[in-house]
Amino acid sequence: MSLTKEYTLSIEKTATSRISSVDFSNLTFGVTFTDHMFECDFKNGAWQNPTIKPYGPLSIYPASKVFHYGQAVFEGMKAYKDADGSIFLFRPIENLKRINISSKRLAIPEFPEALFFEALETLLNLDKAWAQTGVGNSLYIRPFVIANENCVSASPSNEYKFMIIVSPVSAYYSGELKVVVAEKYSRSANGGVGFAKAAGNYAAQFFPTNLAKEKGFQQVIWTDADTHQYLEEAGTMNVFFRINDTLITAPTSDRILDGVTRKSVIALAQRAGVLVEERKLTVSELITASHDGTLKEIFGSGTAAVISPVSAFSFTEVLYELPKLTDSYALRFKKQLTDIQYNLSEDPFGWRYKVV
Ligand code: COI
Repeated sequence: MSLTKEYTLSIEKTATSRISSVDFSNLTFGVTFTDHMFECDFKNGAWQNPTIKPYGPLSIYPASKVFHYGQAVFEGMKAYKDADGSIFLFRPIENLKRINISSKRLAIPEFPEALFFEALETLLNLDKAWAQTGVGNSLYIRPFVIANENCVSASPSNEYKFMIIVSPVSAYYSGELKVVVAEKYSRSANGGVGFAKAAGNYAAQFFPTNLAKEKGFQQVIWTDADTHQYLEEAGTMNVFFRINDTLITAPTSDRILDGVTRKSVIALAQRAGVLVEERKLTVSELITASHDGTLKEIFGSGTAAVISPVSAFSFTEVLYELPKLTDSYALRFKKQLTDIQYNLSEDPFGWRYKVV
């Protein structure tokens, strides 16, 4: 780890909370932020000056490398409040591990575990009133790192900012998704950064997703960059296909994000005795299964969206509708997952992490 300086987490509390101005029954995803944020600088080879302060604008040089070369990574995690007012995280160590995996790939120094947890827990304790009870309501937590050295040479920055901001949210996508299977664009390639939560991975999706939206679809199912034969991810989510009663998802690789929700769904399905295959699935296999009626479900999985059922997909301008099921895996595993997250059931895997 790179943190060599002795540190004390300094805390500057807001003079006036903004919470009374927020309509919690009418939240748009990612627009509202809690009173405080965490900030820690990397300078002279060490993370230093960890601070929690009121949420607000940054002062940053225009030459900061993040603006020019996109040297930035992020995470998405959530905090859930139960009926007794306790607040839980879900498998938070997985997010720390992954941001450090992403950082390594982007030549960013890793962040220390102890400081990550101290910052996160202190921040959530300060802003706990922003967490609302009720399944679907949560605090979406966005840790991220940006390169902020004041220099435009195309080389790794010598300075970084690690931050955590927190946003009260309700469910991410409403309703079912209609998706387009990508025939031209791709989100990742062998040897690339698809497995990392690199900021640029998401920016590169915006244009093809806009094209899909113009045709009345909400998301793109990404296929492999070489052949566009293999189904990889859906929008910003991992993707699962149910053919007969088998659940199929792309194996993790340097093109696929190792999603926390993805691996939790796999564990829940296996516990339920469902056969899970982490294997490559081709578009033609999907279309054959749709034609012969064995394709039962497609759903995306991710922290923000949890589980999003797909109602139809399009390929070569042909629309394939999914059947409407009363006993869908999507709804069953979403319920099991959220029951664990909101402390409504046992936690057989030890995934809950109590903060408050
Ligand atoms: C998440 O599920 O945390 C994501 O990465 C989606 C986000 C880009 C909104």
